[in-house]
Amino acid sequence: MSNTLGRRELQFAKTAAVDAAREVGVVLRRHLHEHKRANLVTQHDIKLELDVRSQALIEKWLAAVLPEAAVLGEEGTKGDVSSALRWVVDPIDGTVNFAYGIPHAAISIALQKDVGKRGKAAYEDGYRTILGVVYDPFADEMWTAMAGQAARLNGKAVHVSNRRKLAEAIVSIGFAKSRESLEATLPYFLKLVHSVRKIRMMGSAALALTYVASGRFDAYIERGIRLWDIAAGGLIVECAGGTFWRQAVSADFTYRMVVSNPWLRRKVHVPV
Ligand code: IPD
Repeated sequence: MSNTLGRRELQFAKTAAVDAAREVGVVLRRHLHEHKRANLVTQHDIKLELDVRSQALIEKWLAAVLPEAAVLGEEGTKGDVSSALRWVVDPIDGTVNFAYGIPHAAISIALQKDVGKRGKAAYEDGYRTILGVVYDPFADEMWTAMAGQAARLNGKAVHVSNRRKLAEAIVSIGFAKSRESLEATLPYFLKLVHSVRKIRMMGSAALALTYVASGRFDAYIERGIRLWDIAAGGLIVECAGGTFWRQAVSADFTYRMVVSNPWLRRKVHVPV
């Protein structure tokens, strides 16, 4: 299978991802304050039956436009995820917020192509994100980006902040889901809290990324984050002039990540 998409095909792919995100957005708005059925509950995580249903809805839209592309999703995979093209999908990013009725969650959809391990801007496994869509259905905010073009929020170009001083920055921190990540991150949290204006932990990685892209946050760090949480938002940050540094920490698509405007890149860190 070829991974070369023409401009028209990429545009179709973007439209399908946007339509899929909007359709799931309707479902999420409808269910926000209703009881939700959980498939799995652990100390720091909840997996909902609606996560699975939402991914299935998204897959239908994506298969209609690019039937040859695989899907690597938080709720499972479809096809061969090492094929030339793959979608990376988080149907509900911020599931715990959503489960508790907090209207801060998003649908995240990225399209990646295999460019080989030395390809420019590629992840360690040789994939590069060429399209990213993140939708917050509760604020009706749709971010989109295509590699090499400006990132957009509801159609208008966005840019990262210009703040250069850590003392004036809002930095978002995620603690992921494991005890190990929590314990590794807490000491840095305790240090950083004294150097920045505010720390925020809002519970959706995809939205933390788009908030950096839009200049609302100045940086965001997380250790133990998964590819479906960051693939779309990472491209959106880069297309908005920001830096998106990540390092694979295991073969199961888990990363350490630092996202920021270019001025703060060396001033924030992510624990090992
Ligand atoms: C989680 C959220 C959270 C982040 C976790 C993610 P999910 O995604 O983005 O903010 O701290 O690392 O796993 O499970 O709600 O899709």
